[in-house]
Amino acid sequence: MDESVNIHGRSFKPFISEQDLKEKVQEVAKEVSRLYANENPLLICVLKGSFIFASDFYRELSFLCDIHFMKLKSYSGFNSTGEIQQELALNIDIQDRTLIIIEDIVDSGKTLEYLRNELLSQGAKRVVIVSLLYKPDAFKGNYQIDYTCFSIPNKFVVGYGLDYDGLGRNLKGLYQLKEAE
Ligand code: IMP
Ligand code: MG
Repeated sequence: MDESVNIHGRSFKPFISEQDLKEKVQEVAKEVSRLYANENPLLICVLKGSFIFASDFYRELSFLCDIHFMKLKSYSGFNSTGEIQQELALNIDIQDRTLIIIEDIVDSGKTLEYLRNELLSQGAKRVVIVSLLYKPDAFKGNYQIDYTCFSIPNKFVVGYGLDYDGLGRNLKGLYQLKEAE
């Protein structure tokens, strides 16, 4: 993990190691297990970016629960388009359920704001947000991010499920975009 990687002609440097990710995911899953085990929550994985984090986090939970998948799209290249498209919807009854949303990263917060409102309007009792990464300097929402594994600077990152225009999701650690030299 000490080597930089090149994706679409841009260079990314090692940022958070596989081991550090693993330890933090375990810690947050333990805390969420302690608080929500008795609420029979449903996990909602937001595709595609969250699928690797979600699969690790899910297996660290101490209780049994179901997981569902939604697909939202707001990013193109390094920038959020600001327009959220729902490409895969939830076709389940969430009335009065506690939902735990598993996100890869909260940047402007627009994607989650949209999703949160959507799920609450469909009758969810409570929406708990668990995000692997959070960029506080970019966040514009006025709702709470309940759990984050890492708060990070407002720089583009790839790996562990996150991509740069379709590539980099299978990198085991996280990498950060190098400033132009
Ligand atoms: P938001 O709506 O601005 O909060 O954007 C959230 C979504 O944008 C995330 O779920 C990611 O798919 C994507 N995104 C935001 N920042 C990054 C980044 O640094 N790397 C890769 N994807 C990102
Ligand atoms: Mg995402």
